Amino acid sequence: MTDAPDIGELNPADRTLMGPGPSDVHPRVLRSMATPLVGYLDPSFVEVMNDVQEGLRYVFRTDNEYTLAVSGTGSAAMEAAFVNLVEPGETVLVPSNGYFGGRMGEMAERAGGDVVTVDAPWGEPLDPADVEAAFDEHQPTVLGFVHGETSTGVRQGDIDELTDIAHAHDAYVVADTVASLGGVEFRTDEWDLDLVYSGSQKCLSAPPGASPLTLSDRAMEKVRNRETRPNSWYLDLEGLWSYWGDDPQYHHTGMTSTLYALRESLRMVAEEGVEAGWARHRRMAGALKAGVEAMGLELLPADEHWLPSLNAVRIPGAADGDALTTHLLEEEGIEIAGGLGDLAGEVVRVGCMGHSARPSNVLRTVGALGRALEVQGVDVDTDAGVAATNRELGE
Ligand SMILES: Cc1ncc(COP(=O)(O)O)c(C=O)c1O
Repeated sequence: MTDAPDIGELNPADRTLMGPGPSDVHPRVLRSMATPLVGYLDPSFVEVMNDVQEGLRYVFRTDNEYTLAVSGTGSAAMEAAFVNLVEPGETVLVPSNGYFGGRMGEMAERAGGDVVTVDAPWGEPLDPADVEAAFDEHQPTVLGFVHGETSTGVRQGDIDELTDIAHAHDAYVVADTVASLGGVEFRTDEWDLDLVYSGSQKCLSAPPGASPLTLSDRAMEKVRNRETRPNSWYLDLEGLWSYWGDDPQYHHTGMTSTLYALRESLRMVAEEGVEAGWARHRRMAGALKAGVEAMGLELLPADEHWLPSLNAVRIPGAADGDALTTHLLEEEGIEIAGGLGDLAGEVVRVGCMGHSARPSNVLRTVGALGRALEVQGVDVDTDAGVAATNRELGE
């Protein structure tokens, strides 16, 4: 038999998290997780769940009754969306302009959907005219899109146009806001979305594991009227609602400590004000962007499609992206990430999310990125970058 392992004290490295998530977690949120557990149907825990639902409705900008946190990371919420909303044989339209749009397609296919794509280059958003043409050609019943595409740093705009097109074809619209909810303007009701999901570990700055999801009455009607049951017991929204709805019943054990944390982070969103939070992300990421641009670097997307929560910085020709991210981690204690999928080796991805989106982090990251490039012999003006960031921060 295996001997008792000699497991040392927990001692992960001290990092500043400026990658695509998780982001730094505020001490208040960390402390909330040390709160003693109660049972998953304890009346006081049901109150915690109600608070989480209220906080989520606020940050989603929705009055949707069906609002909850899925147990699992953002991919679990994505899977819940497609496994419930898509019935076998339905046509599902997904974008091809980023890594997470691709994941949507894989999930829709596993849910039995026939997946077709609407195309745009990586680094650009979908054009509503192309979405309209794809609707005319394929007549999908579900359109998925990614509001903040973490692989490219592109923000999808024109959302009310996308929902108008889909609804004119009697289809449903699913939005991925994993990398944007709480950090970038998003209005579920005003823009008429049918289902929106997110993650807890990015702009909400909670630990990973409790993923926000909201759906309209109309979308829940579709789920309830399915001919076949969703191909997942755990993520079946009717089952989940039996726990999150008015008369909570056991479905699976509630994520006690993780929901304490999400509740505290949503409490902080409410204290700051959701629109003030969007403005802070824009200001902090704007200072970061000004810094890298003043240094002589550029971002992948055009300014009008820039996603403040995730900045995809083009790597100058001579530089090695892996060496850059390793240098920042090992020499400066800052986590950023390399490129994903088609953009591997082309960009580094610098997040500006939640509690990480603050002046000291932004300033350190700009300086560290410049120094890491200098180490590789790349000609960048680090001092000009830091000065520009300082100017933008008004310090
Ligand atoms: C836009 C987007 N969608 C979905 C996901 C998947 O979320 P998770 O890794 O939390 O499962 C991510 C994760 O980075 C993401 O950025």
